[in-house]
Amino acid sequence: MQTWVPFVPESASTLSWKVDALYFFLSGVTIFFTLLISGVLIFFVLKYRRRSLHEVPRPVAGSHKLETLWSVIPFLIAMTMFAWGAQLYFEQFRSPQNAVEVYVVGKQWMWKIQHTTGQREINQLHVPVGRKVKLIMTSEDVIHDFFIPAFRIKTDVLPGRYTSQWFEATKPGTYHLFCAEYCGMNHSGMIGSVIVMEPRDFDNWLSGNTNQQSPAVAGQQLFQTLGCVSCHGAAGEGGRGPALAGLFGSRVSLASGQTVTADEGYLRESIVNPQGKLVTGFGPIMPTFQGQVTEDQLVQLVAFIKSLQGQSSQPAGAGTGAAVPSPSMQAAPIK
Ligand code: CUA
Repeated sequence: MQTWVPFVPESASTLSWKVDALYFFLSGVTIFFTLLISGVLIFFVLKYRRRSLHEVPRPVAGSHKLETLWSVIPFLIAMTMFAWGAQLYFEQFRSPQNAVEVYVVGKQWMWKIQHTTGQREINQLHVPVGRKVKLIMTSEDVIHDFFIPAFRIKTDVLPGRYTSQWFEATKPGTYHLFCAEYCGMNHSGMIGSVIVMEPRDFDNWLSGNTNQQSPAVAGQQLFQTLGCVSCHGAAGEGGRGPALAGLFGSRVSLASGQTVTADEGYLRESIVNPQGKLVTGFGPIMPTFQGQVTEDQLVQLVAFIKSLQGQSSQPAGAGTGAAVPSPSMQAAPIK
């Protein structure tokens, strides 16, 4: 049983020692100057104390040399903190391309996690050691915050959009997972664990429950049942909506003249608010799916569209052979 309070939490990711190094530097600078200033203060108080009742101190003139020195040195120290912190922030903010993706949906008061292979977990996250993992996160209700102290990562999980963070675990074990944003009555109970496993154990764990549908496959079915396929179906078919194959990650020209990258956030927005970022050459005819699909289902639709990478010659929805518009969609007004 550990009776002392550790200075930093356990260190278990490639990022943690870098965060710790910066933290030690900041603490070191703080401690150094606290001691220096209080030491000098006490020394001067004693040295220049009034020794007799009628003593008049010598007038003191300024010193440009001294003033320059105590401006330049703190400036350099502050800029070091800024550059170091910014560099670390960007390293953590930019997810690597080759990361394994995991979807996280926060809700009062639990974490719902789904792997791209279909495994679902609640308040638990199983990950392999030594592989980069990217979390794509959103909330069903209020603002939460996904915090794994041992990995030194912490990012807000927001309703209505995706945020992401990544890590590479370095040590097998079980680590705390917290919600770090006050989100209502049971905020303190919105906790869980991150289980870091050896890659082989992890692969066993992944294949242990294989009867769960992957988000991409579930998304493909939704794509059919919601009738998306009638407009976004086979290339050229209907032509009412943009083709989706090969869309993810590409640059999209909007009717407004802007260009955006088709990332997860853009795809999500285009489903719940199709008119928000209308693609050049298409009319504002898509109905909103706000309220008709849950965050889990949005994740599935996005996963499906992402899965259409590298098969741009294939029509979206291929494989099911059911590129037939549903009756409800046929009845929907086109103009
Ligand atoms: Cu979720 Cu606090």
